[in-house]
Amino acid sequence: MHRPMYRVELRDGADLDGFRRALRGLVALGVEPDEVTWSGGSAPSLFGAIPEAGAAPLPADAPPVPLPRPVGDLIGTVVCHRDPERYALLHRLVRRVVRGERDMLDHHADPLVQRLAMLDKAVRRDLHKMHAFLRFREVRDPDGGERYVAWFEPDHFIVEATAPFFVERFESLVWTILTPVGSLHWDRRSLTVGPAASRPEGLDRDDRFAEGWQRYYESTFNPARVNPTAMRAEMPRKYWANLPEAAAIPRMIRSAPARVQAMIEAEAAAPRRRNPDKAVAAMARQEPATLAELNRIIRAADPLVPGATQAVLGEGPVGAAIAIVGEQPGDQEDLEGRPFVGPAGQLLTRALEEAGIERGAAYLTNAVKHFKFVARGKRRLHQSPTAGEVKHYRWWLMKELGFVRPRLVVTLGATAALALSGRSVSVLRERGPMRFGQTGEGDWEGFVTIHPSYLLRLPAGEGAEQAHRDFVADLRRAREMVEGAG
Ligand code: URA
Repeated sequence: MHRPMYRVELRDGADLDGFRRALRGLVALGVEPDEVTWSGGSAPSLFGAIPEAGAAPLPADAPPVPLPRPVGDLIGTVVCHRDPERYALLHRLVRRVVRGERDMLDHHADPLVQRLAMLDKAVRRDLHKMHAFLRFREVRDPDGGERYVAWFEPDHFIVEATAPFFVERFESLVWTILTPVGSLHWDRRSLTVGPAASRPEGLDRDDRFAEGWQRYYESTFNPARVNPTAMRAEMPRKYWANLPEAAAIPRMIRSAPARVQAMIEAEAAAPRRRNPDKAVAAMARQEPATLAELNRIIRAADPLVPGATQAVLGEGPVGAAIAIVGEQPGDQEDLEGRPFVGPAGQLLTRALEEAGIERGAAYLTNAVKHFKFVARGKRRLHQSPTAGEVKHYRWWLMKELGFVRPRLVVTLGATAALALSGRSVSVLRERGPMRFGQTGEGDWEGFVTIHPSYLLRLPAGEGAEQAHRDFVADLRRAREMVEGAG
């Protein structure tokens, strides 16, 4: 029987950075999971791992533990769970992976894997609920500024994990999200993570909610008075006690974890792209309950780049087994208001038929809903959307797929693969099955293939014929994947 030798104190909530730091040291010393007790912030002045008498201190400079990506992703979600055993369970997982069971997450019957999968699923469900059901109210700050405020009660410690989602979605608004486990504040440039809030008064009445907000703003939180440079330093809590402003810090703002901060800095450094406040604000206020409602919103919104005749909506049955996502409507699609009716669409329809997929049974849509072009005389030449434009339209695409709920999402070309995976994908190298998403919304079984317009550009000949056969083979494989999955 092992005697507990280390006690690791992490901060309240989801302390991913603290957990990683402790894990490095524990792995470097080969500490067994049953030699550690973990606690989440019950003694805030003791930050880090405390060896009991006779145990070696954990090395501060232990190297990172190389882990397979699915394990890293799982850690990222499971630390957000409320289960007090989460860190111990993750330590057991990591210990086994480090010992050589690198594919242990594939062993679904393993009790540890099962337990972690349940925690992972609960956190993802919570993330999804927060993404989908959070509602902003428009309020006035005492200085007259316009702000959107939302109250949400998540089941788990997911507030920081949702920050990138809300920043991306509502980048052009000033907003605050209050929850009983922490708060987020976005001022169009930087994000701050604040302390837990209590339920605002008058949640059910706009006028009383606005008053409640003003009181909260004046008494607890005023971003204008917070020094952003000081906030940016990640200051371990053990130092707070020595600072003159110590009493204020816990109530004020703790900086976002490094990964969120890095994202914000990258966002701030990027040139401001054209950002249709109207459309984004409309997204903020509306939460479509059906595909038809979503389509009404898309139809009513202005194109990101002016010039398109109309929005081109997805087409096909809700519940289709396969969804096919293209880049954006072309010239003909823009005029007719239907996806894939021009030359590339006709080629796609033929290839689907050859692969044994009935076009009418699939759901066809695009990453971007409006045609973007440059005029050359009477011709309108297609222009690929930028990554920023893809990102802007992504919210709609994710909602749309959420309503259709296909078993497989086939992406045609690099733009669609970017929209689904959130990263740039080399279609020729990564062609084939790909799991998209992984966090909350946007988690799909996928299949990456070329765009049919690529085939239209190839000079006629054996090379083009082979490329066509390969495309059909991809679609056939996608069909088999769906059939195989039931
Ligand atoms: N290309 C696409 O990606 N989508 C269409 O709807 C038409 C052509």
